[in-house]
Amino acid sequence: MKKITELLGIQYPIFQGAMAHIARYPLVSAVSEAGGLGIIAAGGLSGEELREQIRETKKRTKKPFAVNLMLQMENIAEQVDVLIAEGVKIVTTGAGTPKPYMDKLKQANIKVFPVIPSVKLAKKMEQLGVDGVIAEGMEAGGHIGETTTMTLIPQVAQAVELPVIAAGGIGDGRGMSAAFALGAKGVQMGTAFLSVEECPIHENYQQAILQADDTATTVIRKAKGGAIRGLKNQLTEEDTSEAFSLAALQRAADDGDTQQGIVMSGQIAGMLKEVKTAKALIEGVWAESEAVSKRLADYY
Ligand SMILES: Cc1cc2nc3c(=O)[nH]c(=O)nc-3n(C[C@H](O)[C@H](O)[C@H](O)COP(=O)(O)O)c2cc1C
Repeated sequence: MKKITELLGIQYPIFQGAMAHIARYPLVSAVSEAGGLGIIAAGGLSGEELREQIRETKKRTKKPFAVNLMLQMENIAEQVDVLIAEGVKIVTTGAGTPKPYMDKLKQANIKVFPVIPSVKLAKKMEQLGVDGVIAEGMEAGGHIGETTTMTLIPQVAQAVELPVIAAGGIGDGRGMSAAFALGAKGVQMGTAFLSVEECPIHENYQQAILQADDTATTVIRKAKGGAIRGLKNQLTEEDTSEAFSLAALQRAADDGDTQQGIVMSGQIAGMLKEVKTAKALIEGVWAESEAVSKRLADYY
């Protein structure tokens, strides 16, 4: 199996997780420029807005970046046409199956990496002909499944022949080495990138992440299925379905209302204590992971 870095033309096997309303060109281009994979979150964007995000990213970096499609959105067909027309080469998908768009994406020579929460969906995606899967454990921020990263990654890695990218709860080199040990070929981090300088979120949101501890998050569940992880606040105490709306995320990310907005965050927030550049975060995680992997050899 090719290394993920070779497959995608990136320097480090580190994806910046898509974050609706947040993963815009300032963050995406900084991550890609630093050698990771920046990912534009298309959720909530019109076709025209997505085109602008892609063009602004390209102005700032010549390196590979991806677009994330939230498949439950109504305008996916339009977004797919836009990203193909703009020459995007890597797509990640969430919240559904990319099946209706696979032929189009493959004809355009686009690499497809769905985010999956279970072995069953990983196998389904393999049958569809995707290029890899991003297996996301429930430690993650945002929409989550039921299985932890520790248990999901080895089971998915065993079940499919595809490269597996581990997501959920990874924020440093120790986490990255752990993911490799479990069978992953790369990692995707979301919450950790909320703490970087280039992340376009309201200062209150970023401060809330930096001040969070290991038990600061909670999960809100919908009666009909679906769950979301964010920092405990007034909104999550009321346990309302309002937390699932993009408007609630916008209130926190744009307006800085960290009580009535949803402050999506993973459990790793407790470890993030300072603001760094995306480059410093990526290089630090990689260097630490290399050191940890060498140190582990001494344990035996
Ligand atoms: C604020 C926020 C918004 C997110 N929005 C999306 C999204 O639009 N699409 C998606 O596929 N994943 C989304 N995610 C999940 C991330 O891409 C990533 O998989 C996850 O954050 C990894 O776990 P971590 O938070 O523990 O690093 C979001 C996560 C956060 C924290």
